[in-house]
Amino acid sequence: MMNSRPLVLCTHSIPETGLNILKKSMDIKILDETISIKSQLQELLPTADFLIPLLSVDITEDLMDLAPSLRGIANYAVGYNNIDINSAKKRNILVTNTPDVLTNATADLVWGLILTVTRRIVEGDTICRDNKFPGWLPKYLLGFEITGKTLGIIGLGRIGTAVAKRAYGFDMRVLYHSRTRKHSIEAEYNLVFKENLKDVLKEADIISINVPYTSETHHLISEREFEIMKPSAYLINTARGKVINEKVLINALKNKVIAGAALDVFYDEPSIPTELRELKNVVLTPHIGSATTQARNAMAKMVADNILAIERGDQPPNLIPELK
Ligand code: NAP
Ligand code: GLV
Ligand code: GLV
Repeated sequence: MMNSRPLVLCTHSIPETGLNILKKSMDIKILDETISIKSQLQELLPTADFLIPLLSVDITEDLMDLAPSLRGIANYAVGYNNIDINSAKKRNILVTNTPDVLTNATADLVWGLILTVTRRIVEGDTICRDNKFPGWLPKYLLGFEITGKTLGIIGLGRIGTAVAKRAYGFDMRVLYHSRTRKHSIEAEYNLVFKENLKDVLKEADIISINVPYTSETHHLISEREFEIMKPSAYLINTARGKVINEKVLINALKNKVIAGAALDVFYDEPSIPTELRELKNVVLTPHIGSATTQARNAMAKMVADNILAIERGDQPPNLIPELK
């Protein structure tokens, strides 16, 4: 008998909450992460109906060319810069992402990074582990106090808004620059809109990058932008590495053009430049913005629900805006 169950390719294993939903009516093939994902995709895409990639896997036109029966790509991430959207559109392949369920987890990490870099928590932790705590001293390991300071948000979407909302507890003035002005969010959280990016950069003590990575946001933060920032400013990036010119950032940190940075994302993941790893005024986390059990389970369920909707012939709930 012919197998009529659709085939779902998963480039990596995702939480069972999603897989269990799909298993009821579909066959799932999880690729082997110890060998080339691309070559496995080349081999298996010809018979696949659905694909669940991680953000680290580029889904290019040449891969889609191998997949005549592919109907949906359900990215296990909210950002979908890894997928060639125009090519998907031409082939009527629907693309979905995982918005909202990871917003709080990511905004929480932004705040964790803000406090960690300004209060030198990692430096302090290292001192304690090395058993080098000299005892309480008045001028020891002094940091930057964020209460009452100015926060600048670049990209006031779901995560940017959640970051802004959390600033209330720190009595901060909040400025933002975004593609579209958001009057109601502005009024609700007392935010100040700046039409020009540079007007946020020149005033903010803490700058949080929350835009998606697109051709427009490539190197959004480069030489000119660092020159505008205050020498006391801290830059936080949880968006995508390529939004910042990483080489210029390293120089800015070395030369104290800005005070520090905290980064969850990198230019060429998973590699992180040695020069960046050697700097003391930077805090680094390994792309863990959405890494809570709650968020990752909800993302897995969302991916499955989107695939089931496409299979039924419905518009999937999280179809990306470009395909609506
Ligand atoms: P979102 O709701 O789409 O928010 C993005 C915001 O950026 C939108 O308000 C958008 O404007 C604005 N924007 C887009 N292009 C812009 C430009 N050229 N200049 C200024 N503003 C621009 O997305 P989100 O859910 O908040 O997620 C944001 C990004 O965070 C994702 O794309 C992903 O790359 C990253 N992320 C990282 C992690 C992590 O683990 N570190 C976790 C989750 C997400 P409009 O309002 O006009 O659309
Ligand atoms: C994580 O970076 C995401 O885009 O979900
Ligand atoms: C610090 O521990 C203080 O008591 O001020």
